[in-house]
Amino acid sequence: MTLTLLPLPASNAADASLRDFGREVVGVEPGSLTAAQFEEVREALYKYDALLFRNASLSPEQQYALTKAFDPASESYGHGNNKTQATTKSVLHPDLKTIPRVPQVQLIGNGTVFDHEGLVEAKLKHPHHKTFHKTAVSEEDELRGMTRFYRWHIDAALYELSPPRVTTLYALRVPKGEPQVCRYDDGTGDELEVPLGTTAFVSGRTMFARLSTELKSLAVRARVKYAPHPYVWMAPARAKSTGLGIESEGLELGLDKLPPWEEEKVQILPMLWKNPLTGELSFQVHPCAVLELIIDPLPPQVSRDTALYPNGANITDLKQVRELLYQMQRPAIAPSVCDYLFVYAHDWSEKDLVLFHNRVVLHTVVGAFAEDQVRAFHQCNLAASDDPIGPSKEDVLQWV
Ligand SMILES: [Fe+2]
Repeated sequence: MTLTLLPLPASNAADASLRDFGREVVGVEPGSLTAAQFEEVREALYKYDALLFRNASLSPEQQYALTKAFDPASESYGHGNNKTQATTKSVLHPDLKTIPRVPQVQLIGNGTVFDHEGLVEAKLKHPHHKTFHKTAVSEEDELRGMTRFYRWHIDAALYELSPPRVTTLYALRVPKGEPQVCRYDDGTGDELEVPLGTTAFVSGRTMFARLSTELKSLAVRARVKYAPHPYVWMAPARAKSTGLGIESEGLELGLDKLPPWEEEKVQILPMLWKNPLTGELSFQVHPCAVLELIIDPLPPQVSRDTALYPNGANITDLKQVRELLYQMQRPAIAPSVCDYLFVYAHDWSEKDLVLFHNRVVLHTVVGAFAEDQVRAFHQCNLAASDDPIGPSKEDVLQWV
């Protein structure tokens, strides 16, 4: 063992919920790991969901190689190339600029960056919740430092391409500023103080653990059908104030109005994804992109007394789908319950490299920058060579 693993800053607190989440890795250079070191990094990532390397030096080529090492058969960026009609109309399009030499690595951030890795001039825009949510924090409150989670998500195309295993995020320029207060604005009064421009993470392990017995039984039997070209489909719709899914107002594009799509490329994925190292189940659903839920019936030998949908169901009513998902996912983004923290909000420094297990965590950008605050990150994830694995028969029997 050559790595040293330290708790992340927030998990020094005496909160059991975050104690298992994330580690800072000390003692190795992430851009030039030996095969044995990489194995240790892989194990640590699959065990702790996210890893931080401070003061890392990482070229786009090294970042691509590190990301690819988690899935050697993967090749292309997680959302495919950025040139098709399906991506120019997508809600993700304005946020991504490709590094010409290494097209799997994206430049993201805020402000204008000059002469950067072959890009003469790149205008970057930190996504602001007012462009996506149905309601927004008032300008007055924003000046007082109030903000919101932008969009909780998995990094995944969720159509045609398999969800990337790992995302790497490398901070090159980080503007300094006062912390902000992230408001949930959903009537609960929940709010969370966050560093300026944080990336917030929650673990799907926590999301599963927080479910009631009945909802666990439902989750272990459920699959999620995503919309074709989901980011184009959702573009006219508006999100909830927590950034955790879409308001049901019928604004999504009709399936007949989307760029050409094929039924066999539509993704139906388990609601719970099984960790390839630990076997743990994570609740892993991109709430904005879901179209339908498919629930298997209970196995015959199991008591049906209090079970939800004991005979199975295919829920196609979008409002009903979203209400059920929100009920299941919202508890895990709560700022804290009885002093237990659930959200890890990373306080970025320049040269921080964060790796996260994209098949376990949901994440979101947070906050707002002024136009002249320059933030530059390199991001890489790769469409996976396989789909995530769902619960085994034994898992089903354990949780139904
Ligand atoms: Fe992301």
